[in-house]
Amino acid sequence: MLKGKHIVLGICGGIAAYKSVTLLRLLTKAGAEVQVVMTPAGKEFITPVTLSSLSQRPVVSEFFTANTGEWHSHVDLGLWADLMVIAPATASTMAKMAHGVADNMLVTTYLSAREPVMIAPAMDLDMYRHPTTQRNLRQLAADGVMIVEAETGALASGLQGKGRMAEPEEIFAIIERYFARCESLAGKKAVVTAGPTYEKLDPVRFIGNFSSGKMGFAIAGELADRGAEVTLVAGPVSLTVDHPRIRRVDVESAEEMCDATTQAFAGSDIAVFSAAVADYRPAERKDQKIKREGVATQTIELVRNPDIAARCGDMKRRGQVTVGFALETDDGHDAAHKKLHNKNLDFVVLNSLKDKGAGFRTDTNRVTIVSEDGEQAFPLKSKREVAADIVDAIEKAMK
Ligand code: CTP
Repeated sequence: MLKGKHIVLGICGGIAAYKSVTLLRLLTKAGAEVQVVMTPAGKEFITPVTLSSLSQRPVVSEFFTANTGEWHSHVDLGLWADLMVIAPATASTMAKMAHGVADNMLVTTYLSAREPVMIAPAMDLDMYRHPTTQRNLRQLAADGVMIVEAETGALASGLQGKGRMAEPEEIFAIIERYFARCESLAGKKAVVTAGPTYEKLDPVRFIGNFSSGKMGFAIAGELADRGAEVTLVAGPVSLTVDHPRIRRVDVESAEEMCDATTQAFAGSDIAVFSAAVADYRPAERKDQKIKREGVATQTIELVRNPDIAARCGDMKRRGQVTVGFALETDDGHDAAHKKLHNKNLDFVVLNSLKDKGAGFRTDTNRVTIVSEDGEQAFPLKSKREVAADIVDAIEKAMK
């Protein structure tokens, strides 16, 4: 699984740095090519000589080699690596990562990383539970950084508590699982709808909604990260996407979204309908701006839009897995079950606007995945983590 994989191993200044030697050994023994990048403080805890002999590559820690002036390119490392693992990650480095303080080679490499990043925090218990550290951890998770939680036990300070870096064998197992997941949907095709639709009233006005598209983009990213070829049909959103396996189709109205989605659905193995599609559109779209002069009240006649999920449900072949969303203002379990049947879905992802941190325009979501077999409720998580839970459920259904 790890043979030939390129891994940047970041090492910060903490006593747990000695465990990084074991991690490095495990990675290289498994056939990975590892480039060690250290912070200046990291070198106080473990010598670059040990690490460079084990990795068979000179350790990078300064921007320049002092005697030759040779420049170490953090950009090249970002292009080379399949994964960056920072173990141990100290409070200071996490704070710099969360705020983009690129004052050393390791943080600069992080900021240039195109590959996914995993961190294994290690510090004293009070530093770990400090609101600042917890805030930075939440920010990094929201930025898509994978976090290997610190463990509880004896700390270098002599105190007992949470802050010990996970054991190198545990981090290694997580890295192996990560790479196994990367290819779990190779050869599969998926279509994802995301964002709102805009239904034009006249050249300057529309009917729309507050959907940001973040959930759908996170799902498209997760599917693509696991090897699927994804068509992302996006309504008007201000998000960008940069993934070689994501083909983005920008649309505006529900009818346009329906055309693009049904077309892609025919050849897809997976469909996720996360867009907040306007159920209705104006019966008439005025060519000229609607004027208010002499008009005390306005009535706009609306007509039904196509139900994209239901249309795909009618076209559905055996083996295709489809997922819809239900955003409800009450608990919504009955509505979720109804959607499951009416739209011929395998799952409905239920989220309630009653939950703080769930729904539109947030970076987090709290969902329940509803299927014929039952319900699975998840705690509040970043949308990227929610996307991983949804894609896990899809993969299970495909087996
Ligand atoms: N959906 C869709 N096309 C539509 C409306 C909804 O594809 N025209 C999809 C959404 O992307 C979502 C699911 O169907 O996955 C549920 O959307 P929702 O608007 O809640 O469903 P409705 O059947 O319109 O239910 P209600 O009006 O009760 O909210």
